Amino acid sequence: YSTATPYTTLPSVLLLGPPGAGKTALTTLFERGPNQPPNGPVAKTHTSQVPSSIELSVNSDDPSTSYKTNLDSEGATAKKFLLVDTPGHPKLRAQSLVHLNSAEPTIKSSLVSDGGAKSKIKAVVFMVDAAALADGDALPSAAEYLYDVLLTLQKRFHSRNGSRAPASMPVLVAANKLDLFTALPAALVKSNLEAELGRIRAARSKGLLDSGVGQDEVAAGEEGDWLGGDGSEKFSFAQMMEFDVDIDVIGGSVIGDGPGAEKWWKWIGERV
Ligand code: GTP
Ligand code: MG
Repeated sequence: YSTATPYTTLPSVLLLGPPGAGKTALTTLFERGPNQPPNGPVAKTHTSQVPSSIELSVNSDDPSTSYKTNLDSEGATAKKFLLVDTPGHPKLRAQSLVHLNSAEPTIKSSLVSDGGAKSKIKAVVFMVDAAALADGDALPSAAEYLYDVLLTLQKRFHSRNGSRAPASMPVLVAANKLDLFTALPAALVKSNLEAELGRIRAARSKGLLDSGVGQDEVAAGEEGDWLGGDGSEKFSFAQMMEFDVDIDVIGGSVIGDGPGAEKWWKWIGERV
């Protein structure tokens, strides 16, 4: 059976998150697949300035098959998808969020290949540095970005193609760098992010936070900028289920002696 599926019709997984989280490192790790260097860390990365994508395959019969497995030699059925690595720099975030805006989120293939078709976004991975979140400024800035991602997905829920409700969008918050002893465990990454998102929500609803929009827009959009369920005092990821945004928080590591990346790989494999 020919696998003549045009490259550009492959679904994609969008990899977002603040600078230095490890997005490009993860992309490199998955790209190498079975060709992992013996114990060595992945090659040094550099700050991303443009999105890039790689084609990956999961075992469609068993998504828990390691990314290190050579599916061809195992005779397994492969399901291909694109992993789209994006730059985390605040000035470049809007360009990544644009892709999530519509009822059926797609990414223009000019970004991911040279064809004319669009790739359907099946899932979002939002990566954070769990060691950086332990102190200072990293938590507010990571949460600020996550807020915008989730709010975009929430607003998208209300946009419809005729009578069809938009497809649900799974989100994985990947708590990276758990090889470092200073890293927060996934459960704390989750609760700290939820608390911070709640603070941002309260601040934005009071109009105290300069979100970079004009006065008129603030007045007009105030209602629509409330993340999660109405009337809830605390924000929790579970509130996003109302908008078909299903969020999981899973810890892992790309390099070093930590839990590794297999759980993230399985999560992705079950959703592409
Ligand atoms: P931008 O491109 O700026 O958005 O950043 P990025 O998310 O692509 O980060 P990148 O992959 O470049 O990684 C930043 C740094 O974190 C690099 O020095 C990586 O080697 C390091 N790093 C990535 N993953 C891990 C990990 O699991 N543990 C440790 N200790 N370091 C990691
Ligand atoms: Mg990068």
